[in-house]
Amino acid sequence: MATTLRPTVAEIRLSAVRKNLQKLKRTAAPARVLFVVKANAYGHGALPLARLAEREALCWGFGVSSVEEGLALRESGVISPVLVLGSLYPFESFVEAINADLMVTIASLDAARQVTAAAKELGKKAVCHIKLETGMGRIGARRPSVLKIYDELEGSGAVAVAGMYTHLSSADTDPAYTAEQLGFFGETVKELKERGARGLTFHAANSCAAVNIPASRFDMVRCGIAAYGLADGFEPAMTLKTKIVFIKNVREGAFISYNKSFRADRPMKIATIPAGYGDGYLRRFSNKADVLIGGRRCRVLGNVTMDMTMVDVTAVKDAAVGSEAVLLGRQGTEEITAQELADIAGTITYEIVTLVSGRVPRVYAE
Ligand SMILES: Cc1ncc(COP(=O)(O)O)c(C=O)c1O
Repeated sequence: MATTLRPTVAEIRLSAVRKNLQKLKRTAAPARVLFVVKANAYGHGALPLARLAEREALCWGFGVSSVEEGLALRESGVISPVLVLGSLYPFESFVEAINADLMVTIASLDAARQVTAAAKELGKKAVCHIKLETGMGRIGARRPSVLKIYDELEGSGAVAVAGMYTHLSSADTDPAYTAEQLGFFGETVKELKERGARGLTFHAANSCAAVNIPASRFDMVRCGIAAYGLADGFEPAMTLKTKIVFIKNVREGAFISYNKSFRADRPMKIATIPAGYGDGYLRRFSNKADVLIGGRRCRVLGNVTMDMTMVDVTAVKDAAVGSEAVLLGRQGTEEITAQELADIAGTITYEIVTLVSGRVPRVYAE
């Protein structure tokens, strides 16, 4: 890895990810756990976490969003099952997926024909999971198409149907809608079984459903956010932190940051930290978020800039160049949660961690 001098890092606690996955495994059993590591494991680093999970048998396999993400896992030595959750295009992607033993999602008859053609061309059996639309409105075939796809793939001799799944849109907000989605899914499972489908893995649950709705677990649960600790009862794995690089005292009336976006109403001591929206620390946090320095909450002053952010350290007598600043996570008894930042930005915790940018080194700690 390139030399890291800038003190801004995302520290990922492996012990937290391990504990979270163990808890998911216990909760979901006998259903298996597919550890969703798409989007660089929601910003936590897909390769180190997948290697950890595989080495310690913390999950059955991995969920990724694209063939590229699956290939990266294979190139780093991961041999567990990998399911590509996205709909593949261009269709040449099927060739790459089959070659690398990635299971693919088939959500249309067209894709079913393409994966069959790719498998025949390679002379290698493709393995797929069929995706059923039950109310997410993203990708998925309707029930009659699912049955047709199943018949066509099974009849082809070139593709093994290993599973059928759906995705819940509102497991955390709308129990009635979720029950409807699960009911529809359950009926489709029954219909496939009546058609003679045997040995398929049926799955529907994301983290929230896996933990709270036993009837959603079927044969496997697909968990991302809880594994990263951003669900009730789980331990957050990521701390985003840096160090003060500049400090100054200003008089009353001094302006801070672009567009004079903060004006000091009294003499203040102000720290500059080397993290900004180029690191995924959102501009929406300007004048609203807190940063932990010396174990205290210190308010962000003025607009967050691309690479630097100013913070009020008037109350932290010993704050100095080199003092640690925590933007997300714990310091002493204080904590900035992803939910707190998400509320400020009008978003969800998923986005807060996933947006931590590529230039922030991920540092792994036990
Ligand atoms: C198809 C699919 N399954 C499972 C998940 C995991 O969801 P969660 O992170 O809420 O556990 C996702 C994430 O968005 C997904 O797109």
